[in-house]
Amino acid sequence: MARVMSRMVDVVVIRANSHATVERFARHSRVPVVNALTDFHHPCQLLADIQTYIEARGDIAGRVVGWVGDGNNVCHSWMQAARQFGFTLRVATPKGYEPNPDITKACGASVALLNDPREAVRAADAVVTDTWASMGQEAEKTQRMKDFAGYTVDQSLMALAHRDAIFLHCLPAYRDYEVAREVIDGPQSVVWDEAENRLHAQKALLELLLGAMP
Ligand code: NVA
Repeated sequence: MARVMSRMVDVVVIRANSHATVERFARHSRVPVVNALTDFHHPCQLLADIQTYIEARGDIAGRVVGWVGDGNNVCHSWMQAARQFGFTLRVATPKGYEPNPDITKACGASVALLNDPREAVRAADAVVTDTWASMGQEAEKTQRMKDFAGYTVDQSLMALAHRDAIFLHCLPAYRDYEVAREVIDGPQSVVWDEAENRLHAQKALLELLLGAMP
């Protein structure tokens, strides 16, 4: 499929359950292959998220971001962004939901792994969360709801962050599960700018890839 599509299009953008599928496709493609989300990474989301932070608060280098919830695909991309852009990411997950150890190791001092959401967000410049059950994890939903109790980003948690901290979420969000409605619909939330920036950041990525083609 990669060989055939490479003869017909200039870029392939894939959203897949398995990261290995995208890597395998890319190995056989002659044109750039963009990861539009896999079970392992969500790099396009991070282009929009970093753009959103910079628009709202300026340079993210040297800042502290608190991640609360699952050590999932979006968390992995936040970890890599911390290393790439020079900020600190404090990740608070329930036990057993930690991010991938290889990514953690590769990110070194840019990432701190914790279990207490309060420690993750204390004096942070941004607070981020994501759904407790990602695509493909629907069968685990009931167990996950129990395991993530206490990890809701609510106003009392946000109050521990920096006074000017912003709240980010890649969406879709489940109000009053991973985030309280008072937070996602409150003044510190930038989720609608963040959602719009998916359009601008992905257009920029396509321009870069197409411009770089021989
Ligand atoms: N972690 C979520 C992100 C959705 C954009 C998922 O994989 O379903």
